[in-house]
This record gives sequence, structure tokens and C-alpha cells, in this order.
Amino acid sequence: MTAPLRWPSEAIWEAVAPLLPGFTVEVLAEVDSTNSELMRRARAGQADPVLLVAERQTAGRGRRGRGWASSPGDSLTFSLGLPLAPADWSGLSLAVGVAVAEALGPGIGLKWPNDLWVGPRKLAGILVETATPAGADPAARRPTIVGIGINIAPRAPAQGMDIAPADLRALWPQADAPAALQRIALPLVRALLAFEREGFAPFEAGFAARDVLRGRPVTLSDGTRGTAAGIGPGGGLLVHTAAGLQVVSSSEVSVRPAS
Ligand code: BTN
Repeated sequence: MTAPLRWPSEAIWEAVAPLLPGFTVEVLAEVDSTNSELMRRARAGQADPVLLVAERQTAGRGRRGRGWASSPGDSLTFSLGLPLAPADWSGLSLAVGVAVAEALGPGIGLKWPNDLWVGPRKLAGILVETATPAGADPAARRPTIVGIGINIAPRAPAQGMDIAPADLRALWPQADAPAALQRIALPLVRALLAFEREGFAPFEAGFAARDVLRGRPVTLSDGTRGTAAGIGPGGGLLVHTAAGLQVVSSSEVSVRPAS
């Protein structure tokens, strides 16, 4: 039997509550998906900032309708929900990626738009969603759910894949899910508040420093080939293609390094 996890809920609350009035930390033994749970709450009008951690997700969700697999103790799965009203939302999920990578330390790259990689393998994924509660004023702050999944211990390759994902213990041998959460929580909140005030600009250099695609041949999901050339001011991926420089937005296409 594995030892129960000891979550640093109180320490996180003490650090974050002065920045986010009404903030709470909640740890669930099991939920379908921390993002789905916070989306349900947001739609029901529960707007207070909350950090929701799940030891087990039974229906974890990834980007583009994919699932997200995790196992208790070997993964960290949580969502931060808070109301935000930035003047410009573009680049939000990239800013989250920069904050999480910087909190976890060197050796972690960012694969546009917001996957964390170690070498050529994925360490963590980010799913940002916003909710519009029934009857809400469209100009009001919008409930924003930032979901993060991190592989803490080595995992077997996902079905249909031949290489295993990356794990945090390869970089930080003593890492466990509670310690990783403690490192991330405060920097993540600070980053979201900075993004709300100043947009993506303060995160551009941090992204560039960890950009694993820059200078590499890439193939877009619409079949276009080119060479990744960094990130534009709104967080779009710049790609040199035969037709000239394209700015790719993450809602349009996905991108993979060409083999
Ligand atoms: C991706 O890379 O596709 C994004 C993965 C996001 C997974 C996290 S785990 C916590 C939160 N709850 C979910 O259902 N998804 C996010």
C-alpha cells in the first residue's frame, strides 16, 4: 500500500490568499476531471478563486477533445479557477506554460502552444477554459479554469505510442505531487494576475528561452510544412513556409516537429 499524500494546502492558502481574496484550496480523492468540476461550479455561479486538486481523475480531459491519463501518486492533476478580465486574452495558455516551467526549474522546454517537454517527450499539459455563467454581464470578469497535469513518476507509453512520456523525477528525483504543487501554486497565481494586468508581453522572453520548436522543421495539422521561427506578440507561432511567414493560432492548427 502506498503512503497517503500530504498536501501543502495550508501553506499554499497562506501564500495565495493575500493575492486572491476568497481563495480556498480543496483536495478530492476522486473526481471525473478537475476542469469539468470547476466548469460546472462556474456555470452555477460559484466565482470565488479555488485551487482544486484531485488524487484520481476518472475522465481527465486534454486539449482538442483528447483524454488525459494519470494515476494516483504518479501524477499531479489540478485546476485553478479564478475570475479574470484581461484586455486581451491571447497568449494566456502560453503564459501559464512559462510560469509552470519556470517554477519547476531548468531542463524543461515549451512546445507551442503550452506543452512542457523534457527532451523530445511531453512532461505536462495545460488546458485553459473559460465559462460564461447564465445571465452574466459579458463585460464582467470571466471565470477562468487553468487545468494542469504533470507526470511525476515514469509512465508506460500511451496506447498507440512507442515512447513513454517524460517524468519530473528524471529532473528532480525527490519530486512528488504535493511538492510539485507547492512549487507551482504561487508563481502560477502571480503569473495569471500579471497576465490580467499586462497581457502576454512580460512572458515573451521566458517563452523564447524555452521554445523547443524555434528553428526546427515543423508540419502543421493542415499539412503545411515550414520552419518554426518563434512566437508573435499575441502568442501565435511564426512559421516560415514556402508561401511566406505565417502566424499560426493555436485554435486553428496543431503543429509537430517534422521527423
Ligand atoms: C493537454 O496537454 O492536452 C492538456 C492536459 C491537461 C490535463 C489537466 S489534468 C487537470 C485538469 N483536469 C483535466 O481534466 N484536465 C486538466
